[in-house]
Amino acid sequence: MPLSADLASTENLLADRVRTARPSEVRKVFRAAQKPGIISFANGAPYLGALPFEQLAAAAQRILSDNGPVSLQYGASQGIAELRRHICTLMKLEGIVAAPDDVIVTSGSQQALDLAARILVNPDDVIFAEAPSYAGGMAVFTGYQAQIVHVPMDADGLIPEELERAIAEVRASGRTAKGLYTIPNFQNPGGVNLSVERRRRVGEICRDNGLLIFEDNPYGLLGFDGATLPAIQPDFPDITMYFGSFSKMIAPGLRLGWVLPPAALHHHFVNTSETTLLNPPVYNQQLLSTYLDDPAWQDKLNEYRNIYREKFTALVETLERVMPDGTSWNRPTGGFYLWVTLPDGIDAEALVYECIERGVVYVPGTAFYTDGRGRNELRLSFCLPTVDEIREGAALMGELFTAAAGSAAATKVAAG
Ligand SMILES: Cc1ncc(COP(=O)(O)O)c(C=O)c1O
Repeated sequence: MPLSADLASTENLLADRVRTARPSEVRKVFRAAQKPGIISFANGAPYLGALPFEQLAAAAQRILSDNGPVSLQYGASQGIAELRRHICTLMKLEGIVAAPDDVIVTSGSQQALDLAARILVNPDDVIFAEAPSYAGGMAVFTGYQAQIVHVPMDADGLIPEELERAIAEVRASGRTAKGLYTIPNFQNPGGVNLSVERRRRVGEICRDNGLLIFEDNPYGLLGFDGATLPAIQPDFPDITMYFGSFSKMIAPGLRLGWVLPPAALHHHFVNTSETTLLNPPVYNQQLLSTYLDDPAWQDKLNEYRNIYREKFTALVETLERVMPDGTSWNRPTGGFYLWVTLPDGIDAEALVYECIERGVVYVPGTAFYTDGRGRNELRLSFCLPTVDEIREGAALMGELFTAAAGSAAATKVAAG
């Protein structure tokens, strides 16, 4: 019988890492939310409406007419030198000193994370990650059959003592503690910053315990006031993989990010990237480089910071009016995300489909943990909807959660 006719045996042919993969909650929610007019607090997609499209179109045309055969040819596996120079200038803003040769341009930071996991992670290795953490990042590690162990956060980010405790527990259970995956700035999904003091402390703990650091930083330049915090990498260059991205601060459609690995691992990253990608797209890199050549791009970034601040403010103002008593959320100072905790007994995962029926979608908190936690939590992305949509969507959500809080209270009274 042809294999394709026998689904069960096809399942058996899958690699272990695919067969054992957890189905993605986020993808399920996104699928259900594919209907016209829906207001989405689910997408971590940047607002692109203020980009200078005319300027980009002119640059795109110039690039092709000046030297099309180079732009559309294969290119250097590490990425073009002009873009790597820009990347070094950008990283300097967060205290990272690197030369263009140290950097590997990738197809978004997602590919860079995949490279790192492919190079460094063995089945059953433990990767520590903030609780909660970026679903797509954790999926990369679990895709290589790592186990995620969550470490609690507070308003200053990952708690160092909890990291130490988690490392000790993992060691005691005989497992291999391999590394820490952290998003230190405007964390996805928590919106929290790791404090400067804790960056050092967390780095020391990793170094002293032989752990690698996967420092994922797509949002660092998106503080509402433009302030940046020093990266972890400069103090721990021998153990840190630093990941950057142009997706959130410029445009994800270019699919350009980068990784700065420890010097000793650099050749592995170049070779492995070559195996998986051959090279990042030359044309996209040239377009982005040309955009970055003009210092006006920084004014644009400032404009975006103000846009996101305005959206964040509209969201929080509305939530204050509409959410049931006992709901709480944090106050991020940048980035794209607000983390909301509902009163006990309200199940954000169960309610998301009803919310979609009413025309609004969010991501339930459970998507950001690998251990089933987060049922009364949710992530709200304020980056993509307009201010009016944010007000309308938050009000609709508020009605739903307020009704759910009423029924939860009634059930409690009836039960007790
Ligand atoms: C924390 C984090 N890392 C990495 C990525 C992937 O970004 P990209 O591949 O577009 O650079 C995202 C996207 O949402 C993210 O939030």
